[in-house]
Amino acid sequence: MAGSNGVYAPLRRYAHITGWGKALPDRVVANEELARIVDTSDEWIRTRTGIEQRYIATDPAETTATLGARAGRAALEQADIPASKLDLIICATSSPEHLFPSTACIIQDHLGASRAGAFDLSAACSGFVYGVSLARSLILAGQMETVLVIGAETLSRIVDWSDRGTCVLFGDGAGAVVLQARAVPGGVLSTLLGSDGSGGELLAVPAGGSALPTSLETVAGGQHFIKMDGRAVFRFATRVMAEATRAVLEKAGIGIDDIDIVIPHQANHRIIQSSMRQLGLPDEKVFINLQNYGNTSTASIPIALCEAIEQGRLKPNDKVVLVGFGAGLTWAATAIQWAAPTEREVPLWRAGQRSATYGLARMRSRFLRFSRQVEGSLLSEEGEGWSDALSERISRWRRSRQPEE
Ligand code: COA
Repeated sequence: MAGSNGVYAPLRRYAHITGWGKALPDRVVANEELARIVDTSDEWIRTRTGIEQRYIATDPAETTATLGARAGRAALEQADIPASKLDLIICATSSPEHLFPSTACIIQDHLGASRAGAFDLSAACSGFVYGVSLARSLILAGQMETVLVIGAETLSRIVDWSDRGTCVLFGDGAGAVVLQARAVPGGVLSTLLGSDGSGGELLAVPAGGSALPTSLETVAGGQHFIKMDGRAVFRFATRVMAEATRAVLEKAGIGIDDIDIVIPHQANHRIIQSSMRQLGLPDEKVFINLQNYGNTSTASIPIALCEAIEQGRLKPNDKVVLVGFGAGLTWAATAIQWAAPTEREVPLWRAGQRSATYGLARMRSRFLRFSRQVEGSLLSEEGEGWSDALSERISRWRRSRQPEE
């Protein structure tokens, strides 16, 4: 664009949320049901946390990646773009499928996002907002156009179901957003990330990493489950949520009174109320849905965002704050000027077309696995000429499927 002095100024870019989606396992577990497993009560859980029920992935086929992929698909649907348009998939998770490969790569394969880079982000419950912050930076720097940020969890698989201090708190689920570069001012205005590693032991899964590798002793000692000092985390959370909200608003040049809605990490209604009262924010400006989901860690903010949109709580131009805290210790906040239309009719034929592309993604994945197996078995046959030629052809074909540098 030429300025008055004839010098070409680069177009300004903004990072907008253009799609959102959530996914939950089928099984709902109410407080009363937990009271039959551990020494607790519906009354204790409700009054101390606000939680009434949570979703649990009881089907072993439902995993962090399947939930993340479902939420990702819903977000792509809402943004009305195919997975092949994605430049990057960031999966924030506290319950990854493996140490490696990353859950994000498994989701990339499920979605058939053939051009996308993919990695997991470990910042516990702050991870989703960390991911949004990173996606925004990549978009504003002109490095990427379209990024999928997912928060996905199956915490029920790493919770000690005999520890009443933790097992009543957590739930499974996933949420996702698509961020895209736009020339329209607004979108993600500012972000703030924080950490304090000195509090690492307050909330941790001690074993299974390189510090304490899996052994008979670690398994027998329950060291692969979530361990938490609830009171200390409570104190940290109530302080940091208010501070992070104030700081991120200051960076965006927005006053507290200008906020339309805060969507905080859904851990405990007492933490949320105490933090938001420190800011002088009235209850009607704070979105809470933890009664239905419990604490879904990285998924809690995107699930709450989706539900706030479904309930008509967000309108174009609204000023929205997402703020979270978690193990690490970590905290993160972002201020957003909402721009996306919250209602969009996607024609049926396009939904059908999308679903067909996911079928193709499954076929593509199977074919890539199969070709790798064939290549492996041919290469092991002592370098016969024809097998070398065939494996070279397969490698060439596979290289042709990779995006250009
Ligand atoms: N049911 C019944 N009693 C329970 C219980 C349960 N599920 N869990 C703990 N208790 C008991 C304790 O044993 C204790 O009994 P005691 O007084 O006889 O020792 C009593 O309830 C009070 O425990 P306390 O830990 O002081 O309760 P609390 O009011 O601090 O609430 C938490 C506990 C966990 C709900 C609260 O500390 C919290 O939410 N902390 C933050 C946790 C969090 O958000 N973690 C995730 C971060 S992302």
